[in-house]
Amino acid sequence: PAAELTLDPHFTVGPVSRRVFGSFVEHLGRCVYDGIYEPGHPTADAEGFRTDVMDLVRELGVSAIRYPGGNFVSGFRWEDSVGPREQRPARLDLAWHSTESNQVGLDEFAGWCAQVGSELMYAVNLGTRGVLEAVDVLEYANIRSGTALSDARVANGHAEPYRVKMWCLGNEMDGPWQLGHRNAEDYGKLASQTAKAMRQLDPDLELVACGSSSAKMPTFGAWEHTVLLHTYDDVDYISCHAYYEELQGDTASFLASATNMDHFIESVVATADTVRATLGRQKRIKISFDEWNVWYNTRYHEVDQITDIEQWPTAPRLLEDIYSVLDAVVFGNLMISLLKHADRVTSASLAQLVNVIAPIMTEPGGDTWRQTTFFPFALTSRLAVGEALDVKLSTETYQTAVYGEVPLVDAVATHDAASGRTAIFLVNRSLDAATTVTVDVSHLSAVSVLETHTLADDDIYAKNTLEDQERVGVRPNDSVTVADGRLTVELPAVSWTAIALG
Ligand code: AHR
Repeated sequence: PAAELTLDPHFTVGPVSRRVFGSFVEHLGRCVYDGIYEPGHPTADAEGFRTDVMDLVRELGVSAIRYPGGNFVSGFRWEDSVGPREQRPARLDLAWHSTESNQVGLDEFAGWCAQVGSELMYAVNLGTRGVLEAVDVLEYANIRSGTALSDARVANGHAEPYRVKMWCLGNEMDGPWQLGHRNAEDYGKLASQTAKAMRQLDPDLELVACGSSSAKMPTFGAWEHTVLLHTYDDVDYISCHAYYEELQGDTASFLASATNMDHFIESVVATADTVRATLGRQKRIKISFDEWNVWYNTRYHEVDQITDIEQWPTAPRLLEDIYSVLDAVVFGNLMISLLKHADRVTSASLAQLVNVIAPIMTEPGGDTWRQTTFFPFALTSRLAVGEALDVKLSTETYQTAVYGEVPLVDAVATHDAASGRTAIFLVNRSLDAATTVTVDVSHLSAVSVLETHTLADDDIYAKNTLEDQERVGVRPNDSVTVADGRLTVELPAVSWTAIALG
């Protein structure tokens, strides 16, 4: 098979926002406890945070990190997790049937974010709490001093406010599983009131209203429409959440997961723009794709197995998917989908960061290691700079049971005028054949090949594990050639590739 694309710096989609390379830390399983935080670990710092994990988080290149949930946040009292640690209450976490010790909270996490060089993106509880608690945590976090809650933060040893800019107005409020789940009308009104109150304190916040938990929700589309009718003037973003998995051995459909992400994004954009027209507004709502990943959530039901209310564990092993090469190829393709929509998707959070459906794994007292998905994330985050380009892809197609006829190859490119650097990201979804891609690079001024990386393996189910931590990685792609304004590259079957030119 063969495919073609054209790179022209004039044909831009939009600037690549750094926030698209965000992630997510939830108080869930071993993401926080025995994940980023493990006092007593040989690498732990004075605060109890593992510095070996911090090193990998920096290497991954994550921008904004959404915190503290997730489903967890809908039962969370933020004030439990600040102040002297020995006085913090242990609580039942209803979402994950766990005991929450509250040893890590806003103050510790803000400090950790600063150390790893990431922006903190905070979610307020609009499931079981409301406007006042949202304004309270905003006051605690962002006001310098001179009020009860800002002075409490100072007294807790944190003189400088955190100036958290991005705030999520609840989590997955369309989901019946969500504590305090409500219909779009009720959530839209609450989100609007909360946003208005938060803006009375700080008009420059960037606020995210909850969109759908997946494009498969029965209320998908109608939910966004109703919520935005209530919140259009109050928020900047509507969220999207999507998880994909290989079901019943249907690898061909799984490989086409990003076509569903494309459709999801384009549908939400259309809905938001419909509300814009209905209300006669100029502003455009952006998308915060603040949960996305491969997640085998139909395979595991560990939470349901935690039944004894007297013994809800602390930091149980939950949602610890181990990812294959195939998963990482689909994952890399999801990042391509985000970049293809750079004009509207200006924030995204890989769910999640450590141990829980995560690119980084840890063992208590032991090692930390990179999952297969670590590589496409780290490379895309490092290489995608400047403007996303419309690459005018021409490719063969194939049939899938779930998504019908889909492109065999998917691709996006970015170009940075200041440095002259270009990056191309490609996926070959063929199960059995290499595909040669020809790229017209004649419109670029600099076409030296700086880096090539391909993720592929004879065993598409190969994984990195605790016992074999470096089984899978990326390799240089030696097939890349450039001549007469044309770049050619051979993409192995089931592969993800990044090429940097400059
Ligand atoms: O990321 C895991 C869970 O998936 C989150 O807590 C929730 O928001 C979503 O359903």
